[in-house]
Amino acid sequence: LSTIEVDISPVLAGQAITVLWRGMPIFVRNLTPEEIGKAKAVDVADLKDPVARLLGSTAELPASAANITKPGKENWLIAVGICTHLGCVPKGQSPGDPRGPYGGYFCVCHGSIYDTLGRVRGGPAPRNLDIPPYEFTGEAKIKLG
Ligand code: FES
Repeated sequence: LSTIEVDISPVLAGQAITVLWRGMPIFVRNLTPEEIGKAKAVDVADLKDPVARLLGSTAELPASAANITKPGKENWLIAVGICTHLGCVPKGQSPGDPRGPYGGYFCVCHGSIYDTLGRVRGGPAPRNLDIPPYEFTGEAKIKLG
């Protein structure tokens, strides 16, 4: 299916689920206020990849929380769970997973590190995690694609 709807209401703050969209794992994570605060405090100019990687968009927007998440929904990270180095699925979605020093994701294949907004912060990955096209169709419902 090119478009899927996902009920994300069961995902509480600090929790995450992974859904499949177009054959790709999509990370859905409900960030805690602390995680959001830390992510927003980062100076985008200091990032290895300062661009929000919005799939299907050619706009070169800064990799800020405002551009990676949706207005009023900044606690929701929706990202393609494929490491931009060589395509492994980074760890960090499941309880007990290694998340790396920024509390986001850690790719065990070659050590790439991502923060809670999927922005690359270390290791060989060249780009931030891709953000799929999606919209909120309800308070806690999203449509991917
Ligand atoms: Fe993730 Fe190489 S595939 S670090």
